[in-house]
Amino acid sequence: MKPITILGIESSCDDTSAAVLRDRCVLSNIIANQSVHEKYGGVVPELASRAHQSNIVPVVDQAIQQAGISLNEIDAIAYTLGPGLMGALMVGSSFAKGLSLGLNIPLIEAHHMKAHVLAHLILDKDQENPEFPFLCLTVSGGHTQLLIVKSPTEFEIIGQTRDDAAGEAFDKTAKIIGLPYPGGPLIDKYALKGDPNKFKFSKPSIPDLDFSFSGIKTSVLYSVRNHVKENPSFIDENRHDLSASIQKTIVDTLMNKVHDAIEQTGIKSIAIAGGVSANSALRKAILDLRIAGCEVFIPKFEYCTDNAAMIAVHGHYLYLDKTFGNLSSAPKARYAI
Ligand code: KG4
Ligand code: ZN
Repeated sequence: MKPITILGIESSCDDTSAAVLRDRCVLSNIIANQSVHEKYGGVVPELASRAHQSNIVPVVDQAIQQAGISLNEIDAIAYTLGPGLMGALMVGSSFAKGLSLGLNIPLIEAHHMKAHVLAHLILDKDQENPEFPFLCLTVSGGHTQLLIVKSPTEFEIIGQTRDDAAGEAFDKTAKIIGLPYPGGPLIDKYALKGDPNKFKFSKPSIPDLDFSFSGIKTSVLYSVRNHVKENPSFIDENRHDLSASIQKTIVDTLMNKVHDAIEQTGIKSIAIAGGVSANSALRKAILDLRIAGCEVFIPKFEYCTDNAAMIAVHGHYLYLDKTFGNLSSAPKARYAI
């Protein structure tokens, strides 16, 4: 059978990415990060779309070059339809539409969060692929969900956050302890040399398999504020222990629900996906599930945070399913799974 070659394009937030996959193997996966947001403590939507505009052509060009293919070898273009920042999505969507029209090949509309999950189906010698059904904890800057993944096109949400996402909890608490955006990776780094039991922050008690993270943020804010009143250098003197304690609180909160989900569904094949799955404490906690007889799947680092390889693998399955998009589809800032 003729191999399937998909060009993936991702522009939902602050990374411009393009990837070429052939039969789910990554030939290239180029990511341009945007440092312009750092000094603002969060992603500035208008600056993100401007940066996507200047990055998209060189990023796609580099992805094609590195893959060593010519444009006429591409079977379809998959791009992120949503969810994400409207202005940012518009850039990838307009580019993908223009190129598909120019090359006269099908367009495929990818769902950013499904793509994070389907990153597990990328064929790569350094990662194993789960069998269906599997449970997936999807944790990013905008989402926190527990899913039963029944097939590459069937997802059931069994739990989700009622307020902030786990990544947001990392980023907002990082800001409280003086770390720049995005603070999640920095908390991870400082936590390596910190005591996770030094500070106690309140943990949410939410029924079912749902999550809540806004209380943790408030608890960290009040606790830090009280300490700073007594000792103005408190944050600088305790950044490692604060990071480790915050990280433990967030990871424990996530893992409690993962344990409940395993018990309730009886599914013992567990995956994590999304930017926060790059967190070392979460990766360790998931790996520890093997002791309880679970099979665990952790994506390679480059497929955890936003990337177009995951968009292209999602596109691969939609291509097989003959689910094609059209030129009149508008990007969706909100887009249910
Ligand atoms: O999936 P992603 O790249 O973008 C969204 O779709 O949101 O996730 C970004 C989130 C940010 O909140 C970032 O702080 C968090 O993932 N993140 C981490 C780590 N690496 C990325 N959080 C904790 N520890 C990390 N190592
Ligand atoms: Zn993402």
